[in-house]
Amino acid sequence: MKILDLKGNENLTKLKEPANVIKNGGLVLFPTETVYGLGANGLDENAVKKIFVAKGRKQDNPLILHISSINMLNQIVFKLNEVEKKLINAFWPGPFTIILNHTDIVPNSVTGGLDTVGVRMPSGKIARALIEYSGVPIAAPSANISGKPSGTNLDDIFDELKDKVDYIIDGGHCDVGLESTVVRVIDNIPHILRPGKVTPEQIKEVAGNVIIDSHILHQLDSQDKPLSPGMKYRHYAPNTKCVLVYSKDNNKLVEKINELSKGFNKPLVICCNDNVKFYNDKLNINIGFKNNLEEISKNIFSALRKVDKFEPDIVFIEGVEATGLGLAIMNRLIRACEYNYVEV
Ligand code: TXA
Ligand code: MG
Repeated sequence: MKILDLKGNENLTKLKEPANVIKNGGLVLFPTETVYGLGANGLDENAVKKIFVAKGRKQDNPLILHISSINMLNQIVFKLNEVEKKLINAFWPGPFTIILNHTDIVPNSVTGGLDTVGVRMPSGKIARALIEYSGVPIAAPSANISGKPSGTNLDDIFDELKDKVDYIIDGGHCDVGLESTVVRVIDNIPHILRPGKVTPEQIKEVAGNVIIDSHILHQLDSQDKPLSPGMKYRHYAPNTKCVLVYSKDNNKLVEKINELSKGFNKPLVICCNDNVKFYNDKLNINIGFKNNLEEISKNIFSALRKVDKFEPDIVFIEGVEATGLGLAIMNRLIRACEYNYVEV
């Protein structure tokens, strides 16, 4: 295994080496603007299978193909409709994945046997250059063992994945910190299957309409057949029990967390910087100022990964308003809390 340090380094030609690893069927851990990805040649059935083994991921949970050009898109999917075209024009390159019908060139291992494939053109320079030098779409899930929080910086995932990949590219901390928005257009209406940095409001502005899938903030019933297989699986949860608490009124939010934590020996609060002073008697991890959702997004996964190291007996997490980028934050947090949610 080799590590290439590209933190603050603009010499992207060094990416020819990991691109060769991709071409030859190997696994490369690489940064994107959202989270780190665990990448392989997306047209090579056997290379893709290695991703599932490395992550311990269920075969029926399909992968996203990452592309660097519209030429590459045309090889893997059929003609787009007008709404799909508008969306990719507006949001590519960037944290936006669209579900499209795929051509025969896309292996079954990528799609879990579905007729559709998720495609994304990342804006991160390292990711784009890596794909370009590889000359093939790169299949890549978030870099983490399945069920754990996604990796947003190398320190968080190095130990977990170092023995499972052939090559690691260190690009520092990811900008967005949450995975891409996943959208499928059905009857000309974009349906958000996973919220992200590209918000429902932005999608509505481009397409005139948007539907937020009901499972984004609610648990699936056992008989539900989700539009996205990923919705079925346990995600992001620390080992310690976590409770998500939200109130529009900041005083009530703080009061509720302080009330709920009575009777616990070692409660930990994941909170905004503004509120740390109210939790002096508890462990805490602060994740950014309340009005800075970008900063909060960036820090969430790292915070969730730190929780168990403090050995708390309970964790309370401050929620945010579920609009705009807040919807994506709440979608990840409610899963991390396994739907333990209190609103006051
Ligand atoms: O930002 C991201 O999207 C990151 C970086 C690495 O690009 N990737 C990522 O991949 O988050 P992953 O595999 O962790 O999440 C992909 C999600 C899963 O929930 C999966 O079920 C859904 O997209 N998905 C993929 N293909 C699909 C399809 N054909 N239909 C419905 N959902 C699909
Ligand atoms: Mg993932």
